[in-house]
Amino acid sequence: MILVPSTLLADASSNYLQQLSQRFQLPMQDSVSGWYLSWQDDRLVLRHTELPKQSDILVDFASGSSSYRRQYGGGKDEAIAKAVGLNKKRDLTVLDATAGLGRDGFVLASIGADVTLVERNPMVAALLADGLRRAAQHPQLAEWLPTRMRLQFSPAIDALQQAEPVDVVYLDPMFPERQKSALVKKEMRAFHEVVGEDPDADQLFEPALQLAKKRLVVKRPAYAAALAGTKPSHMVKGKNNRFDVYVKAAL
Ligand SMILES: C[S@@+](CC[C@H](N)C(=O)[O-])C[C@H]1O[C@@H](n2cnc3c(N)ncnc32)[C@H](O)[C@@H]1O
Repeated sequence: MILVPSTLLADASSNYLQQLSQRFQLPMQDSVSGWYLSWQDDRLVLRHTELPKQSDILVDFASGSSSYRRQYGGGKDEAIAKAVGLNKKRDLTVLDATAGLGRDGFVLASIGADVTLVERNPMVAALLADGLRRAAQHPQLAEWLPTRMRLQFSPAIDALQQAEPVDVVYLDPMFPERQKSALVKKEMRAFHEVVGEDPDADQLFEPALQLAKKRLVVKRPAYAAALAGTKPSHMVKGKNNRFDVYVKAAL
């Protein structure tokens, strides 16, 4: 839900919020309890009525952590880049069919991939759309990001069945949390509450493999079974996850 403080209704941003509300089928209302989207300091944030403002969740491709990862994250030597094959070929086309907050998609695009982000959750998709809007106005991101990253608000299954073939399909479905401890990051917990689980993730496997010309890459927690119980061609180990790679053709 989008909460629009009534003071905003008369200013320019209200048009933009109305567009978001229509595009993502998010009703606007003046009061809410639980999770809601709010317009704060020219950005859309996900907030909870019971949590302090410091816990706001947003997509910020220009943030310290995103740019740090872009500048010092190892680029094509990162596990995700190797799994996707960007260490061998930089300008691959990638369909990131479970985009979330777009972190992985951003890493891939910053190395050179052309990334289509697909997200079905309306709140998450609206956050992504707003992150892309701000990136398009950012001095360091504006010249490359808008041409390399775009958002498609739809269920992955539709995108996988309708898209033109791409070099790589990337999947990172939600996975049940193993432990409900402080170790599970606050943001991750919030995300689980808003998005829930993805019990239909296995159904994406076949269409994803069909659409990919070169490979399908599936991000999994280190302890998790392979998607759809199908053994990958090889695995690339990341810090907390692994990437299962299903190779169809050489890069
Ligand atoms: C674990 S998060 C992805 C995180 C992402 N890789 C990142 O780096 O920010 C999974 C996301 O995929 C979305 N998702 C899961 N299944 C989907 C489906 N069938 N179609 C579209 N989006 C889906 C969820 O709504 C959630 O936002």
